[in-house]
Parts: sequence; structure tokens; C-alpha cells
Amino acid sequence: MARMVLLGMLSAMLPLLSLAEFVAPFVVTPQRDVERMMRLADIGPGDYVIDLGSGDGRIVITAAERGAMGHGIELDPGLVREARLRAEGAGVADRVAFVNEDLFQSDFSRATVVTMYLMPDVVMRLRPILFETLAPGTRIVSNSFDMGDWRPEQHVSAAVSGGLFLWIVPADVSGHWTVTIDGHGEPMRLEVDQHFQDIEPRLEGRDQGYFMEDVRLHADRIDFHAVNRHRSYRFSGRVEGDRMLGYVHIQEGDEVAVAHWQAVRS
Ligand SMILES: C[S@@+](CC[C@H](N)C(=O)[O-])C[C@H]1O[C@@H](n2cnc3c(N)ncnc32)[C@H](O)[C@@H]1O
Repeated sequence: MARMVLLGMLSAMLPLLSLAEFVAPFVVTPQRDVERMMRLADIGPGDYVIDLGSGDGRIVITAAERGAMGHGIELDPGLVREARLRAEGAGVADRVAFVNEDLFQSDFSRATVVTMYLMPDVVMRLRPILFETLAPGTRIVSNSFDMGDWRPEQHVSAAVSGGLFLWIVPADVSGHWTVTIDGHGEPMRLEVDQHFQDIEPRLEGRDQGYFMEDVRLHADRIDFHAVNRHRSYRFSGRVEGDRMLGYVHIQEGDEVAVAHWQAVRS
């Protein structure tokens, strides 16, 4: 009977164990590059840092020494133990944790900063997960490897590697939106093509389309200037899920007005 129970438990665990895969060897980021990562992501009090594949814990521990909180996700239980000991030694054990988990099975959506030093194909596998699950404005720092054509905000040199990359997660603004401007007529249609922080908005109102300039998406902030021969709209706003809201400067001939605008994803 006991054997049956044991076999049952083992077979229940097998799918979990077989899913976990070591996707990078243990190689440490030199401490001077850890310090550079801290400066690059401007890590400080108020941050929650998650290191994917945390090794001996040095990144999360250094972040905690700068006033942040955080945790490391590490598949090797020996390294998890070592990281916990190091955290105690550094006097930051109350602000950090190290969990023995597969990073591909972990939830890191609460991070304000995600760090990683992983293999190039792994970083690419993580790319859609990072974009879809992290809140707009979350900073991502990768040691050595980029995320293909997701353009980094910064790429700085490092002591011993291919450099350090910084990305700021942009809001998802792709798709169709209905835009209304308080006190200014019929709703307009806005269509946005998006490739991470690079966006191409198209606005259509009562008088055909608009030429777009000064287009920018940074974290949850969106700005664009829509102009045609009748009028110009300078939109500035914030993205909140399926809503955008902000102010728009409207110019028609010599008349200038400022109004609230909002958009709803349709
Ligand atoms: C290159 S080391 C980086 C260590 C540390 N982040 C640093 O920069 O010093 C990569 C780490 O990822 C861990 N790792 C590999 N596959 C993993 C997985 N599927 N889930 C969690 N950690 C993993 C390895 O055990 C190793 O400690």
C-alpha cells in the first residue's frame, strides 16, 4: 500500500520535474558589473528586483543593500542555500528571498526590475513573457545578451561581457481605439501598430486622416501630434489597460484650446 502511494506521488511529480530544465550554466556576473546593473536600472528603495537564475544571489543582495527588496529564482538548490547564507551575511535576509523554482514556471509580474544573465535563446523565449506580464515601466536588465529587435533603451559596456542592456516595458497600445475629446465633436478612430516601444498610430476623424509626428510611447506615457490642413491635435496621455486618458492641445487656424481626451480599446 505504502509502495502504491509512493509510486502515485512520484508519477504526480514527474511532469513537474521533467518541465524544469537548466537553461544556463552557473557563471557569476562580476561584482563591478552588478554595480553597473544597479546604476543602469537606477535601483533603490521602493524597487522589487527579481533575478531570473539568481546563482549565488549577488544581484538581489546588492539591490537590497541599496534599499530595494526582491527575490531570486534558481533551479539549483545548492545555489539557493548559498544565496540565503550570503543574504544573512550581508544583513539583508529580511528583505530578500531565494526560491528553488524553474524560471519558466514562475510568476515575476510583481517586479519593478527584472535582471537576467541567461543564454541568448532563453532570453528570446522570455521576451514575450516579459512584455505581456510585466507592468508598463518595469525595467529589464540583461547581462551580455539582447532581445533581438526589441530595441534597448541603453546598452553600456561591461567588464567582462558583451555589455549590459536596459529595456523599459511599454504599455500594450496595439489595436483599435475610439477617441473622444471633451466638447469637440464626434469620436475619432485611432489604430496603432506596435512593436514594443515603437508605435505607428493612425487617426481618422471627420475630415480624413492626419499626418503623425512626435510619436512616443514610454512605459505608460503616450504622446503624438496629429496634423492635417484643417487642424492639429497634440495628444499627451497615460495608458491604463484598455483606456487612455490625458490632455490634447487643439489648434484650428489661430485658435488654440486644451481639452481632456480619452480612448477606449474597441
Ligand atoms: C549565468 S548564471 C547567472 C547567475 C546570477 N544571475 C549572476 O548574474 O551572477 C545563470 C543561473 O541560472 C540558473 N538556471 C538555469 N536554468 C534555470 C531555470 N530553468 N530556472 C531557474 N534558474 C535556472 C543556473 O543554475 C545559474 O545559476
